[in-house]
Amino acid sequence: MTKCAASMERVRNPLPAILDKHQRPLRDLRISVTDRCNFRCVYCMPKEVFGAKFHFLPKKELLTFDELQRTVRIFGQLGVSKVRITGGEPLMRQDLDVLIRQLSEVEAIQDMAMTTNGYFLTPEKATALKNAGLKRITVSLDALTDNIFKTVNDVGVPVSRILSAVDAALTAGLKPVKVNMVVKRDVNDQQVIPMARHFRHTGVTLRFIEYMDVGNTNGWRLEDVVQASEILSTLQEEWDLEPVAPSHPGEVARRFRYRDGGGEIGIIASVTQPFCRHCSRIRMSPEGQIYTCLFGSEGFDLRQLLRDENVDDQHIIETLTALWTERRDQYSLLRTQMTPSQPKVEMSHIGG
Ligand code: GTP
Ligand code: 5AD
Ligand code: SF4
Ligand code: SF4
Repeated sequence: MTKCAASMERVRNPLPAILDKHQRPLRDLRISVTDRCNFRCVYCMPKEVFGAKFHFLPKKELLTFDELQRTVRIFGQLGVSKVRITGGEPLMRQDLDVLIRQLSEVEAIQDMAMTTNGYFLTPEKATALKNAGLKRITVSLDALTDNIFKTVNDVGVPVSRILSAVDAALTAGLKPVKVNMVVKRDVNDQQVIPMARHFRHTGVTLRFIEYMDVGNTNGWRLEDVVQASEILSTLQEEWDLEPVAPSHPGEVARRFRYRDGGGEIGIIASVTQPFCRHCSRIRMSPEGQIYTCLFGSEGFDLRQLLRDENVDDQHIIETLTALWTERRDQYSLLRTQMTPSQPKVEMSHIGG
C-alpha cells in the first residue's frame, strides 16, 4: 500500500488493521442476509437451476439479528468500518430495518450500505431504512427497455418498478445512490448508451460491471464479457469523460466524470483489470459461513462458534484474525491459472 493509501485507511478506522499474506487490511464486511431472491437474473440465478425444487435455507439455519449484531461488533474490533448488506435480495429478509438499526448501534461501523434489486424498495421502506441507520443504497438495473430487462430478470418485472425504487432512495437521502448494470454481450450491451443518457444529471452514479464467472451455474464464457475498455470507448464516442481519483483505497470501480457536468459513472472491470491487490473484503453467507474471496469454494463455519456457549468473543477474534492473516486469495488476478472445475460458492448466496 502507498503511504497515502495507508493514511486514508487510518481515517476510516482508528484501529490498526490486520493484514493478510499480501499486506491487505481487513476493512469491509459484506453480509448476505438471505439466499432467496424474487428475480431469476440469467447471469446469477438461472431458472433451470433455481427452480421450484431448489433447496433454499430454512429460517432456523439463518443467523439471527442478535448473532449478526455480535458478529459485526467482533469485526468492528478487528478494524472493519464498512458493512454492506446483500443477498439474494436483502429486502426479502423480514424486518430488515430492525436489523439495520441493530447493526448501526455498533460504534466502529461508519458506513452501512445495501445492494438490492429494488423491487420492494417503496418510498416508505426507503425512509424506514434511512431512519434505521442505512447510509447508502445500490440498486441493480440492467436495462431501460422492458423487453430486455424482462429477459434479464426472467420474472417479468418492468423497468418502471426499479426506476421508482431509485427515486425512493434519492428522496429518502440514501446517498450517493448507485445503479449497477452487469453488461452481457448480445443481451444488454446495446443499453450502455441509453442507461448512461438516462442517469446523467440525476445525481445517480451508474456503474457498468463486467460479467463475471462467479458460481457454477451461469454458464459463463469469456466471449460474453463486454470488456471495460469497450464500454469506455462506447461512452467516449458520445461524451467527453475524465478520470476521477478513487474515493478510498481498494475501490472496485474506476471512476469517470462527464466534462459537461453530467455527473459520474463507474466501470467495474473485475475480469480484465482485477482489483485483488487491494481487496479488503470479507463475506458472510446467511447461515454464517465466512468467505475471504467471492470465488471461494468453502467457507469457515462461524455460526458453530457463535452458537457454542463455551466460546467467547475473544476466541472468535483470535480465530478470525488467524483466518485473515493466512489469506492469500487473488482469484481474479490468477483466473487463468485456476482449475475450471473447482466448485465456487454462488453469488446469490454470498452477495455481490
Ligand atoms: P462501494 O464502494 O461501497 O459503493 O461499493 P462497491 O463499489 O464495492 O460496490 P458493490 O458492492 O455494488 O459492488 C459492485 C460489483 O463489483 C459487485 O456486484 C461485483 O460484481 C463486483 N465486486 C464487488 N466486490 C468484488 C470483489 O471483491 N471481487 C470481485 N471480483 N468483484 C467484486
Ligand atoms: N457478474 C457480475 N456481477 C454480477 N452480479 C450478480 N451476478 C454477477 C455476475 N455474474 C451483480 C448484480 C448486482 C450485484 C449483487 O452483483 O448485478 O448488482
Ligand atoms: Fe437476485 Fe441480484 Fe441475483 Fe438478480 S443479481 S437474481 S436480483 S440476487
Ligand atoms: Fe477479492 Fe477475491 Fe474479488 Fe480478488 S477475486 S477482489 S481476492 S474477492
